[in-house]
Amino acid sequence: MSRDLKFGRRSFVKLCASAVAMIGANPKLLAKPDSEIHRHHRAKLIDTEGHPITPSQLKVGENYLFHYPYIATPCFLLNLGRPTEQDTLLQTEKGGSYRWQGGVGPERSIVAFSAICAHKMSYPADEVSFINYRHQTVSFRNKSEAVIRRSQVIYCCSEKSVYDPLQGARVLGGPAPQPLAAIMLEYDERDGSLYAAGIYGGDMLELFFEKFAFRLSLEFKTSNIREKVTRTATVMPLTQYSRSQVQC
Ligand code: FES
Repeated sequence: MSRDLKFGRRSFVKLCASAVAMIGANPKLLAKPDSEIHRHHRAKLIDTEGHPITPSQLKVGENYLFHYPYIATPCFLLNLGRPTEQDTLLQTEKGGSYRWQGGVGPERSIVAFSAICAHKMSYPADEVSFINYRHQTVSFRNKSEAVIRRSQVIYCCSEKSVYDPLQGARVLGGPAPQPLAAIMLEYDERDGSLYAAGIYGGDMLELFFEKFAFRLSLEFKTSNIREKVTRTATVMPLTQYSRSQVQC
């Protein structure tokens, strides 16, 4: 056996040992490959009268709701009133990593997320919504059980999961194991219109359909709850959609 080959094997063993040590020190190196963006139909966001929604029409701090990528899957549309972080690295419960694109529009302040809580999938229904965006200061407990006071969070009052919409809906507190799934928004500078074009992150849509199939078919008066949203998606204030809002 040549000296070079022996050296090569010894180096290879050393390399493997240091790789194991590195991964032990940082388990995130074992994270699964990036979560994909699931592209769906590109749907123009419109108001209840059929007019295109533009960023200037969205009141800062208001909860807006639309359904996407299916007619029965609710999403929040928010104008946070200030630029969000861009290109935020996040992780799903299964360890997949993904980069949240950040807000869109002239101030990069318009964001959209699935409104299905990543804990036990509480969602805004026509009767009541336990999950909503809170523009004013609220109190909650973080992962270390410390009391935090801050504004601009998405709060699920079912079991008190709290998400940060300025950072891709990453979890700030409560039992949710991953961020809310993000809706891929596109902004057309030429006429100011907004489009939903996909969903990414820890998308729980299949579980949602399995768990709530019967309830959704009653709510949406159809057996085809998986019907896709295609050309347009209608946006309305959450107060107009859900008769009552639980705030905690
Ligand atoms: S369903 Fe939202 S915190 Fe449990």
